[in-house]
Amino acid sequence: MKRAIYPGSFDPVTFGHMDIIRRSAGMFDEIIVGVLNNSQKNSLFNADVRVTILEGLLKEFDNVYVEAFDGLLVDFAKKKDANIIVRGLRAVTDFEYELQIAQTNRVEYPKLDTVFLVTDLNYSYLSSSIVKEFASFGGDISKFVPESIIPMIEDAYTYSKRIK
Ligand code: PNS
Repeated sequence: MKRAIYPGSFDPVTFGHMDIIRRSAGMFDEIIVGVLNNSQKNSLFNADVRVTILEGLLKEFDNVYVEAFDGLLVDFAKKKDANIIVRGLRAVTDFEYELQIAQTNRVEYPKLDTVFLVTDLNYSYLSSSIVKEFASFGGDISKFVPESIIPMIEDAYTYSKRIK
C-alpha cells in the first residue's frame, strides 16, 4: 500500500493544488491531503474550513482523504503510516526551500521520501498568496481557484474590510 501525504496550507486551495492532487491520486494507492493548522499564521480560513472546502472539492476521488495536522510533518507522516510526501515544484525558486525541508524531514525520519511533481505549465505562476493579493483588491480570481469557493474568498475580504 503506497500511502502519500500531500501537505500544505491550502489557504486557499488553487487549481495548481488540485492538479497535483489529481495526478498523485493516480500514482499512489492513497493520498492524504494534510492541511497545516498553523495558528500563528494569519490565515484567510481556519483549518477546519480549509478541510471542509477540500473535502467538498475532492469528493470524486475515492482514494483521497483530507485531514488537518499541527506540529511537524514527520510526526503526522509517522502517525498516518505514510512514507511518501508529495510536493509541487513550480520554479527553480521553490527548489532550494523544498530540498532543505525534504532533507530535514529525511534526517528526522529516514523512511520518508519526498516526491516532487512538476507543476503544470498553466499553473506555474500560481500561488495562494497571489490569489489572496488579487482577491484583496477585488480582482477576478476565476482563473486561479475553483468556482465554488470564489464567493467564500470574496466574502472573507468584504468582511475584513467592513470590520476595519
Ligand atoms: O503550502 P505551504 O504553506 O508551502 O506548505 C508548507 C508545509 C505545510 C508543507 C510546511 O510548512 C510543513 O511541513 N510544516 C509543518 C512543520 C514542519 O514539519 N516543517 C518542516 C521541518 S523544518
